[in-house]
Amino acid sequence: MYALKSAAPGSKAELYTELHVQARALLRGERDPVANAANLAALVYHSLPDLNWAGFYWRRQDELVLGPFQGKPACVRIAIGKGICGTSARDKRTVVVPDVDKFPGHIACDSASRSEIVVPVMRTIDVLGVLDVDSPSLGRFDKDDAIGLEELVSLFVLSTDL
Ligand code: SME
Repeated sequence: MYALKSAAPGSKAELYTELHVQARALLRGERDPVANAANLAALVYHSLPDLNWAGFYWRRQDELVLGPFQGKPACVRIAIGKGICGTSARDKRTVVVPDVDKFPGHIACDSASRSEIVVPVMRTIDVLGVLDVDSPSLGRFDKDDAIGLEELVSLFVLSTDL
């Protein structure tokens, strides 16, 4: 007999599985980009422990512009290639930063942020923006967060008219 592979109870992977189910329900039947980005930012911010900021930046020509988010007011414009967000957008990859003070060029929007993860929002080969999540704790994000947030971003792209 084969058992279905499932995430260990209480694990981070299980938390992301539950989050994915909630996100699917939240985005179902709605394709508006502002509504879906706002709801996803709120879901992430209020579901994952130990965060101080979660939200989107959208690519506008050669810069990123602040989109829907939860947390304190943030920097509005970030050049592509600058900071953690601009690096993720330029390199088209998820960037995990265990200690923001050790990332050259980190842009400090909220001085409480100690670690950060940024996932690019991609449609085929185009970067549409990034999802940025900050924590007041060092080393808060790992591979499980990268996989879980990348899956949420993929769901968002599939569910939204961008
Ligand atoms: N720290 C980010 C800027 C955005 S705020 O964290 C919300 C960066 O270095 O790109």
